[in-house]
Amino acid sequence: MLDVAHLTTVFDLPAGPIPAVNDVSFSIAPGETLGLVGESGSGKSVTAMSIMRLVQPPGRIAGGRIAFRGRDLLSLTESEMRAVRGAEIALIFQEPMTALNPVFTVGDQIAETLLVHRRATKADVGGRVVALLESVRVANAALRAGDYPHQLSGGQRQRVLIAMALACRPSLIIADEPTTALDVTIQAEILDLLRERQRTLQLSLLLITHDLGIIAEIADRVAVMYAGRIVEHGPVRAVLRHPQHPYTRGLLASMPGRGGGRLQAIEGVVPSLGALPAGCAFHPRCPDRLAACATIVPAAFTVGPSHEARCLLHREPPAGSHGAR
Ligand SMILES: Nc1ncnc2c1ncn2[C@@H]1O[C@H](COP(=O)(O)OP(=O)(O)O)[C@@H](O)[C@H]1O
Ligand code: SF4
Ligand SMILES: [Mg+2]
Repeated sequence: MLDVAHLTTVFDLPAGPIPAVNDVSFSIAPGETLGLVGESGSGKSVTAMSIMRLVQPPGRIAGGRIAFRGRDLLSLTESEMRAVRGAEIALIFQEPMTALNPVFTVGDQIAETLLVHRRATKADVGGRVVALLESVRVANAALRAGDYPHQLSGGQRQRVLIAMALACRPSLIIADEPTTALDVTIQAEILDLLRERQRTLQLSLLLITHDLGIIAEIADRVAVMYAGRIVEHGPVRAVLRHPQHPYTRGLLASMPGRGGGRLQAIEGVVPSLGALPAGCAFHPRCPDRLAACATIVPAAFTVGPSHEARCLLHREPPAGSHGAR
């Protein structure tokens, strides 16, 4: 469905280009959910915006390939890309209020999406809107369609955004922290809804979050980002039960309920992308670092079935040495 290879997106700042997304590769199969996880500033949203080709200057895609259903998105014209956005790939943002227009009713906004992409006619659009709102479990859908965004709760607004995202029957949804702004009970309902819609409609889902608990619940595979790179990537069970990168282990150890507050188990702070440490970008914070970590950028090593980690601990011992494997 989606195949991202060596994607690199930089911001050209006065002090020089900074690599917000650095040689990132992953793919998502039809009907599959990939979780993209990492601390704030690790490059998750820029990855999403790159796929949608919505990165604004001074940002630019500097390299790599993005294939969607066999088409190279980076070589489409802007008008071809507009037809892909919304209709084939839909984006759900963290903050529903900014994604909705305050001066139109939510029903009118969903109708507009359907009409623009010719997924409904003037005659049947009203019924389609109500059906879509019902499909995202909005109670009294016909009545709610006449509400303005500010008249709805945060959870209802997120449902409306999901309805809009699904309106054109996309085959891929990118959800960027879709529940971060919501309280915990509503979060669970929205995630449950997303998962149910994803399964029923056989959608591919790229779910971006800083919360490994959410990943554990709904992703099939997970990619862990640190300072613009994917440092570990594999099936959810393998990565969560047998993490092979020290950063992933740190993230897991700092999950609530596993001792300690969130992220506090990892000492130090995320480095500034303009001044990345040489070698492995995680080395100043890494409890397991080796001497080589300060100079060698780790490649992605295979650590299990479809499971990779960018960490020198997994490097093959040099030929002729008797190092244990
Ligand atoms: N508009 C921008 N101008 C300059 N740098 C940016 C801009 N947007 C993002 N960045 C850089 O890209 C990095 C990754 O951002 P982002 O993808 O939004 O992180 P997150 O993982 O929290 O979604 C940021 O730390 C920042 O250095
Ligand atoms: S490469 Fe070295 S510093 Fe980086 S995560 Fe692995 S052990 Fe730690
Ligand atoms: Mg983000």
